[in-house]
Amino acid sequence: AAPWTVPKLRDAKRDGRKLVMLTGYDAGFARAADAAGIDLLLIGDSLGMVVQGHDSTLPVTMDHIEYHTACVARGLSQALPVADMPFQSDGSCALALDAATRFLRAGAGMVKIEGAGHKLEVIRHLVEREIPVCAHLGLTPQSVLRLGGYKVQGRDDAAARRLREDAAAVAEAGAELLVLECVPTAVAESITAALEIPTIGIGAGPHCDGQVLVLHDMLGLSSGHRRPKFVKDFLAEGGSVEGAMRAYADAVRDGRFPDDAHSYA
Ligand code: KIV
Ligand code: NA
Repeated sequence: AAPWTVPKLRDAKRDGRKLVMLTGYDAGFARAADAAGIDLLLIGDSLGMVVQGHDSTLPVTMDHIEYHTACVARGLSQALPVADMPFQSDGSCALALDAATRFLRAGAGMVKIEGAGHKLEVIRHLVEREIPVCAHLGLTPQSVLRLGGYKVQGRDDAAARRLREDAAAVAEAGAELLVLECVPTAVAESITAALEIPTIGIGAGPHCDGQVLVLHDMLGLSSGHRRPKFVKDFLAEGGSVEGAMRAYADAVRDGRFPDDAHSYA
């Protein structure tokens, strides 16, 4: 298949083809994901937790993301690499432009930014400078200190309305993709229906345009941490790392994952 490009993401949504995303941190697993037909590889700042052993994503730096982006990009021939903007690298337009430029030079095809609010200006700043942006709303792990933990977002009517407004605003600012993390199924469904850009869910129910999981989680490596409800271990049914990735991709494309047991009502 031809390599993924940013404009094809909207085409996939229009054609009703689910997008399958997985996090990746190195060339070996990236190569396996590429071979398994994963569409998007996220060099997530979750690396602070699953690779570095911290209990949040806050210690992750631009150097870390740049290094892991370069490692992942070398392993890919088809999947689109998306680099996470680490904590405060998008705190101002100037900082964000510097960080995102480094990540694109390291091989990323897109960068991901948590939040709306003042980040709308940052998204616009990057998009106007030819840097494709993936937005991220709902549970934004870089907000953990203010939120007081990792909790489902958008549960009451006012919070759901704010989430829908933020989703419209990031799309309006020029984001080409939107990750929705830990939001009730019905809220993610209405946001997905309202937007032309694809939504990628994680703990956001079955009606998003695609799904993402953390690599370690889908291989059953959540040791030391309580496993969130939306996580599924695909290694048992897949039989190998690449098999697990194929099983995950098939389940997303067939609409078998996530089911209600892996979603928030
Ligand atoms: O860092 C990460 O892995 C992420 C995904 C969970 C969306 O942001
Ligand atoms: Na992240």
